[in-house]
Amino acid sequence: MTNILCIGAGYVGGPTMAVIASHCPQHRVVVVDINEARINAWQSDQLPIYEPGLGEVVRSALGRNLFFSTDVNRNIAEADIIFVSVNTPTKSFGQGAGRAADLQYWEKTARQIVENSTSSKVVVEKSTLPVRTAEAMEQILNYNSAGLHFDIVSNPEFLAEGTAIQDMQHPDRVLIGGKDSPTGQQAVQSIVDIYAHWVPRERIITTNLWSSELSKLAANAFLAQRVSSINAISALCEKTGADVNEVSHAIGLDNRIGRHFLKASVGFGGSCFRKDILNLVYLCEYYGLSEVANYWEQVIKMNEHQQMRFVSNMVSSMFNTVAGKRIALFGAAFKANTSDTRESPALAVCRSLLEERANIVLTDPHALDNARTDLGGAAKLVCFEPDPYAAAKDAHAIAILTDWAQYVDLDYEAIYESMVKPAFIFDGRNILDHKKLHSIGFNVYAIGKPPLTHNHVS
Ligand code: NAD
Ligand code: UGA
Repeated sequence: MTNILCIGAGYVGGPTMAVIASHCPQHRVVVVDINEARINAWQSDQLPIYEPGLGEVVRSALGRNLFFSTDVNRNIAEADIIFVSVNTPTKSFGQGAGRAADLQYWEKTARQIVENSTSSKVVVEKSTLPVRTAEAMEQILNYNSAGLHFDIVSNPEFLAEGTAIQDMQHPDRVLIGGKDSPTGQQAVQSIVDIYAHWVPRERIITTNLWSSELSKLAANAFLAQRVSSINAISALCEKTGADVNEVSHAIGLDNRIGRHFLKASVGFGGSCFRKDILNLVYLCEYYGLSEVANYWEQVIKMNEHQQMRFVSNMVSSMFNTVAGKRIALFGAAFKANTSDTRESPALAVCRSLLEERANIVLTDPHALDNARTDLGGAAKLVCFEPDPYAAAKDAHAIAILTDWAQYVDLDYEAIYESMVKPAFIFDGRNILDHKKLHSIGFNVYAIGKPPLTHNHVS
């Protein structure tokens, strides 16, 4: 039996360890966190995150070989392999503020590992980290008087929220980076052996530490870049009469381009794209590569522009003012099938419309609690309404901001009847049947398509 510990019971730590425990009944897996409410929630019927299929996986192993605890120190002492999956937000102070990764949680964790260890261990970077973090970690960990040896392995996580369980059960690849020393390679093998319980061996790839750390940042940068690229094209479509869905279909059929991640939208959100690209930009600047830094920074600028453009479009189409108008925002989560609202474009749109003094009613099937927290002081200006029909009643406009499937099948005729006329719908996810909405009577504005409006002037 191997004692596996994961420090950090968040969106990554909880689900990844549940999947490992479910596939490796011979190993004992413990997940620890300083957040007691989170640890309690993992052991209850109300898991701390909404993720399809997660409940079943947790239940399959909880209490058998999967345990959650707040006792970080005791569990460090007992562990053979420690995954570290604590948060690595963008630094908000001092050198590199607004760009570099804030590694204080990581460093604290590394020091805590040294202080509480009585045996040598493998320490796995699960969090997304700047390239060469492992070097600093190795120094902190191996500078100990007890003669203990720590091997650092990089095993970045590629799961996407909303499909986390599916992504981990059938990963495109598992990436494991390690040092080219005998103990470094043994450490890599110990992590390969865990994943080999359910991942085909050819999908487990091993690299050096720095390639593994950089591949994680590069993968997120490439994905976000595709979204920004299609969103840039969507702006041109709106000016020229082209339809971005048709363009993305036409270019995506080229095998070299591929069809994934070409869906134009109100912009990308989520806790990682922005943070990881900023981290990449900072690294480039640190190494004096200012042109490379500027290139990647443009992906974020384009995303901010797309969100701002969406709000400007709303205001200008609604006769240049939304002040005092009730506007229903459909969706708070940064994408469908998650309760996560971190960096959600829905909240950015919400804040901008509040600045325009609109009366905002926000609806979402799973993310209203997180939205209330993330909006902070602005939350008191927002009406939170779980029922989309009630949200739309007496509204001048609806904006679709999350691609929840349930928004496609609503009774838009009934919704139209309950709204102030002329009624507007802004589809920030291009998921609705725009022609049908137009025939019902809506003025319809989608992303990257000519608007479908009614001329009410006789
Ligand atoms: P999260 O904020 O949901 O979870 C991190 C957890 O670590 C929190 O519960 C926090 O209380 C805990 N923590 C912080 N310091 C601690 C300490 N000293 N001891 C014990 N617990 C501590 O973050 P997340 O979304 O799970 O992301 C974790 C890492 O994984 C980040 O580096 C992120 O970039 C990366 N990542 C995230 C995703 C994703 O979909 N969210 C996907 C891939 C990679
Ligand atoms: C992303 C990556 O897909 C994961 O591989 C990675 O592990 C993770 O970041 C991370 O490091 O945190 P995630 O942010 O959960 O996963 O979700 P995505 O599916 O990538 O969507 C990100 C954002 O882009 C969402 O707001 C989504 O709506 C938007 N998006 C995505 C588009 O607007 N268009 C698309 O075609 C695809």
